[in-house]
Amino acid sequence: MDRVKTEGLTKIFGDIIAVNKIDLAVPEGSVFGLLGPNGAGKSTTVRLLCTLLRPTEGTAIVSGHDIRDEPLAVRQTTGLLPEEGSHTLYPRMSAYRNLEYFAKLYGIPDKDIPGRIEELLRFMGLWERRDDPAGELSTGNRQRLALCRAILHSPTVALLDEPTASLDPIAAKRVRELILSLAREYGITFFINSHNLAEVQRICDRVAIIDHGKILLAGETEEIRSQLGTGRVFRVRVVGDPSAALSVAESAEFVEEARLDDNTLVVKVRDPEANNSRLMMMLIERGVRILEFAQEEMSLEDVYLAVVDGGED
Ligand SMILES: Nc1ncnc2c1ncn2[C@@H]1O[C@H](COP(=O)(O)OP(=O)(O)O)[C@@H](O)[C@H]1O
Ligand SMILES: [Mg+2]
Repeated sequence: MDRVKTEGLTKIFGDIIAVNKIDLAVPEGSVFGLLGPNGAGKSTTVRLLCTLLRPTEGTAIVSGHDIRDEPLAVRQTTGLLPEEGSHTLYPRMSAYRNLEYFAKLYGIPDKDIPGRIEELLRFMGLWERRDDPAGELSTGNRQRLALCRAILHSPTVALLDEPTASLDPIAAKRVRELILSLAREYGITFFINSHNLAEVQRICDRVAIIDHGKILLAGETEEIRSQLGTGRVFRVRVVGDPSAALSVAESAEFVEEARLDDNTLVVKVRDPEANNSRLMMMLIERGVRILEFAQEEMSLEDVYLAVVDGGED
């Protein structure tokens, strides 16, 4: 069963089409990543899904409810960690009181509130910090508290908008681990906005790439990674200016894609068994000095750059 399903979902602000007829399906239990550069339409999509914005056209079913017709039911079954979500906590209230306040807003019965808060604070490793004012927690702990708040009312779907964007690498790693354990322990389906490829590749089992409001590619992370051709790329590290290497690669009819990554030429070659050594010879003949020639599985980053930028830097 799909926990999120959008149908021609569209949002237009004046003459900006922020979200352009997107069709997405997120099955129950998945950790889904909506990946795209700044301004691609990720936050607008999440705001539509949690009913903070109304679509211009199209609709979506979230946790079994239509965002147009049943916004209240959507909110009751959906959790939201907004962009910069930890800024929406009350800084002078303790961690515990913040959750208590939001639990009442969510309409959780009074008798259930202390148990639920303790369970979540313990799960997130924040129980010892429960009396600290939210504003005095470390950035990472504040984000964990915001995550607690997002799932306080036991939603079936949690929408997280750039959950690790402002965190240092260690705090970000911890938050990612917590997201994965929440998915396992509570069966929450996660819909995560991110511009961080490595993050999506690590924790999301499904991914869609969005740019200019349009979905360019969607599917299982592994599948997407190998979607373009053989799923293999060659990296040729050269000495000095790599632009000559790029022009050699671009002139070869068997090269499907070529781009530069610092002093490394990254190429996708048709029929690599046969053409790999041909490319090497061509480079040498043109006087390119090769430091290293490596063949790798294509990373999500290669796919991403190929679809978002058309393969050009
Ligand atoms: N409330 C708004 N009014 C006008 N334009 C908006 C509004 N919200 C977002 N946009 C525009 O919509 C596009 C998508 O924005 P957003 O969804 O925030 O992208 P992302 O989260 O991927 O960075 C951008 O061009 C942005 O400037
Ligand atoms: Mg955003």
